Amino acid sequence: MTGKGRFITFEGIDGSGKSTQARLLAERLRTQGREVTLTREPGGSPGAEEIRDLLLTGAPDRWSAETEILLFTAARRDHLERRIAPALAAGQVVICDRFADSTRVYQGATRGDLRGLVDQLHGLMIGREPDLTLLIDIDPDTGWRRAKARPGAEARFEDFGAELQARLRAGFLALAEEAPERIRVIDGRGSADEVAKAVATAAGPMLA
Ligand code: ADP
Ligand code: TYD
Repeated sequence: MTGKGRFITFEGIDGSGKSTQARLLAERLRTQGREVTLTREPGGSPGAEEIRDLLLTGAPDRWSAETEILLFTAARRDHLERRIAPALAAGQVVICDRFADSTRVYQGATRGDLRGLVDQLHGLMIGREPDLTLLIDIDPDTGWRRAKARPGAEARFEDFGAELQARLRAGFLALAEEAPERIRVIDGRGSADEVAKAVATAAGPMLA
């Protein structure tokens, strides 16, 4: 299904710099003449972007924990079918800002212990891991300041507070220990250019 393409995801807490680094890596690879699809979750395809609106706007109790996981998974399935898999089959590098690790960490940490359910649904409906995941690691205070400085109405998940961001950070680092061959931890504290250099070094062998 995925042909000769390469599937790279960025993960990390809100404000860690994922979107910035995903964009910089895409620009770097395009400069080298590679075909790149730059995308994000939740969203990335027209249907999944509609589901994104359902997930990220409205009251905090708009969805039950279980319904929320179904919506994230439905969005991911549509994104995978319509955008990610075709691009990989065409030999492109697909760079995605968040993917299944976000569901493992966020839905696991914020809505009770639902990791088992998340893993079952992933196995049934997604069944694919990235070739490489770059975890941009930042302390919650810095991430919080960066995220808060950004405009936008999608506050449902970002209004979590520093304590929860610390648990999310620990959750991502634990995942990286579970899957060290796939997930590389990148120090997110430097300037965007410094972090981009570390990202390029980590992604280099996989893209060679
Ligand atoms: P994320 O996608 O992880 O939420 P963003 O890439 O959107 O993070 O970055 C959040 C904010 O911080 C943006 O305003 C962005 O311009 C800024 N930013 C990103 N990387 C850095 C960095 N290394 N140093 C300082 N500010 C940064
Ligand atoms: P995103 O737009 O990446 O936020 P940010 O740029 O601030 O990091 O993601 C929106 C929110 O959705 C974010 O708070 C994390 C949350 N989320 C989940 O809870 N589960 C998921 O599976 C995904 C993909 C995102």
